[in-house]
Amino acid sequence: MSKGLLNDLRIRPRRLRRSEGLRQLTEETVLRRADLIQPVFVKEEGEPEGVESMPEINLLAIPDLLEEGHRLLDLGIRGMALFPNISPNKKDSQGSEALKEDTLVLRAARELREALPEMLLISDLALDPYTDHGHDGLLAENGSVANDPTVEVLVEMAVLASRAGIDVVAPSDMMDGRVGAIRQRLDEEGEQETAIMAYSAKFASAYYGPFRDAVGSARKDESPIDKRSYQLAPSNSRDALRELLLDEVEGADFLMIKPAGPYLDIVRMARERTNLPIAAYQVSGEYAQLHAAAKNGWLDLNSCIMESVLGIKRAGADIILTYFAKRAAALLKS
Ligand code: PBG
Repeated sequence: MSKGLLNDLRIRPRRLRRSEGLRQLTEETVLRRADLIQPVFVKEEGEPEGVESMPEINLLAIPDLLEEGHRLLDLGIRGMALFPNISPNKKDSQGSEALKEDTLVLRAARELREALPEMLLISDLALDPYTDHGHDGLLAENGSVANDPTVEVLVEMAVLASRAGIDVVAPSDMMDGRVGAIRQRLDEEGEQETAIMAYSAKFASAYYGPFRDAVGSARKDESPIDKRSYQLAPSNSRDALRELLLDEVEGADFLMIKPAGPYLDIVRMARERTNLPIAAYQVSGEYAQLHAAAKNGWLDLNSCIMESVLGIKRAGADIILTYFAKRAAALLKS
């Protein structure tokens, strides 16, 4: 080559990308199957039932859920997050079904605990699968979501979940003070070993739509439910940091950011500001959009799954809750 512009180019980053061996040697972020948690939906009875907006996700009755648990373990996935889809006639304004000893999610937890001792069981704590209005808490007379009465219910839900064999309770309601209250009540009840994964920075996101179809909390023919009086504004990272640090002080064992993809800056900020393990939830809408594009032949599904999940880990998440967990685990070597 003639002497020219690149005459003295000694620093050539491409040298390390030349071969598969060099690329592997210099790999910075490595996704493991054990980083992944699979959210699952449990229903009262009947055959597995698809969710239109969530391809490959089925609502499962308990016997099918147990089988699914075995498949997940075989794939190297160590954690399941449980969400109940209860029949509409069990819903009321108080979400009273949530505090029954034999409610669906607790029955599922007991059976999973027995059948799969090594599976990590995570249970969401919030009232939206149980209320006829679809909010995560109890309503005050003026229609707003009442903070302190809701926390009273959440602490009871936590104790019931823990006694049913749940390893990690995950309050997803965004009420003030709930992490501290749950920790206190669990300890008083002798459930010190049960961990809290706090949905600390949970944003009022339009990406939850398909999930609401799956748990049946979407209000048909109405505008999407408005949770902005408790979930975070997408514009606000300082408010997110405030919530993250508060949950740490209140005794959370894990801090979660949700959704993941649109909030990777928050994941990174959390990683830099706390020593707790950080979880990020790639939510139903993030799942649906990749599937929809792939169905049109516009994106390669498996490649986009791995890239999006790896990106979440690279941003600073130790743990990723994703509906793609099963597919991703099948694609990973370890
Ligand atoms: C409810 C809850 C939601 C999700 C998890 N727990 C929805 C909401 O806040 O309306 C969303 C999960 C997803 O979209 O995958 N407390």
